[in-house]
Amino acid sequence: MNRLALICAIAMAAPAQAGGPDAAALERLVRQDCGSCHGLSLKGGLGPDIRAPALSHHDRQSLQRLILDGVPGTPMPPWRPLLTEADAAWIADYLLNGGME
Ligand code: HEC
Repeated sequence: MNRLALICAIAMAAPAQAGGPDAAALERLVRQDCGSCHGLSLKGGLGPDIRAPALSHHDRQSLQRLILDGVPGTPMPPWRPLLTEADAAWIADYLLNGGME
């Protein structure tokens, strides 16, 4: 295998890397679980609008924390029992990059 083919093979294998966030599963979780409170298109419901323009007061790290720890005293639950730090960072990026649009 020449070097270029090897690099291509590695790049194609990368999304399935063991132990990393599972993008398809996380996207499903955002739509179904987060969507159950924030609305199916995340425009808001019981919880507020969490589409990218509504999150301008957050950065990736503050969102990651908020997802892991929830908002105490509100219905926004902590997701730490279900998500790893990497999963939460993935969701933070997904929301900030307008994944739902
Ligand atoms: C049981 C209902 C519920 C579920 C499920 C839920 N949330 Fe929330 N979420 C809320 C509520 C209510 C608030 C508002 C908390 C407050 O008053 O500050 C909130 C707040 C937030 C905020 C802060 C918005 C801002 O403008 O600061 C983010 C981001 C967020 N949720 C993301 C998520 C994500 C991502 C998920 C899925 C992993 C999720 N939520 C699941 C109810 C929920």
